[in-house]
Amino acid sequence: MTSSQTGPHTLTTEDLALGYGDREVFAALDLDVPSGRITAIVGANACGKSTLLRSMSRLLTPRRGHVLLDGRQVHRMPAKALARTLGLLPQSPIAPEGITVADLVGRGRHPHQRLLSRWSKEDDVAVAAALDATATADLADRPVDELSGGQRQRVWIAMALAQQTDVLLLDEPTTFLDVSHQIEVLDLLTDLNRQRGTTIVMVLHDLNLAARYADHLVALAGGGLHAAGAPGEVLTAECVRAVFGLDSEIIVDPVSGRPLMLPLGRHHTLDDARERHRT
Ligand SMILES: Nc1ncnc2c1ncn2[C@@H]1O[C@H](COP(=O)(O)OP(=O)(O)OP(=O)(O)O)[C@@H](O)[C@H]1O
Ligand SMILES: [Mg+2]
Repeated sequence: MTSSQTGPHTLTTEDLALGYGDREVFAALDLDVPSGRITAIVGANACGKSTLLRSMSRLLTPRRGHVLLDGRQVHRMPAKALARTLGLLPQSPIAPEGITVADLVGRGRHPHQRLLSRWSKEDDVAVAAALDATATADLADRPVDELSGGQRQRVWIAMALAQQTDVLLLDEPTTFLDVSHQIEVLDLLTDLNRQRGTTIVMVLHDLNLAARYADHLVALAGGGLHAAGAPGEVLTAECVRAVFGLDSEIIVDPVSGRPLMLPLGRHHTLDDARERHRT
């Protein structure tokens, strides 16, 4: 992919309050996204992960406080200018009815297009590279609404890649994907980060993949930040208990050396098996 990189960007929230109507989601969130690194956000359902990403990409206006990109308030930036630097793949994006894969991925180029010079060679190259990277080139002429859930998810990722932003926010990019496509997408994002210096922020529900792929892990709970830092520091049994109300054991992932969380449910533990054997 051609690089439009302009150097490292800073992304922070300051005293950020977010909510809907009389529902408060965050009261005063201060968060630093490390520049040029991969950040994974984890937390229970409804804790506000998507709300935070929407606010970082200017789709939701803060009640108080700011989201700052390179020190500028994103909510004061024109949408198209922001979209050249920061892209968002939402949790449940909706495609226009009947649109083909190639046209949808092409929409990722919109922020780069000027009023007069419309579609350029550069746009062609970016779309082709995005289709190629997500192994969706053979779907290019198919209508998006006829794809399987996993194919569609890869097409949305292709659209986000075609936007070629220096900061990329992805809300559960691995949903609907089988295990090999999950790893492929996370490896692809890691390539993007290492080769182009893209700052990646992704919401993941799989704590073990989050701990493996993130440089920086952010755990949200109770309307604020529970913990943030290196996965080895953040992903502890105490954290899993506090954030998810779940007992677990943490061991070292023999593949990556990162923490690996083993949930302790009420059944199928060795203690449970011994107990059943006895009775
Ligand atoms: N458009 C909306 N209008 C009103 N309330 C909303 C809206 N979107 C989200 N909420 C509420 O805000 C809270 C946070 O929602 P959000 O979607 O940010 O959670 P999440 O952490 O992304 O959850 P999940 O893991 O289920 O995706 C929830 O209580 C949700 O019901
Ligand atoms: Mg969500």
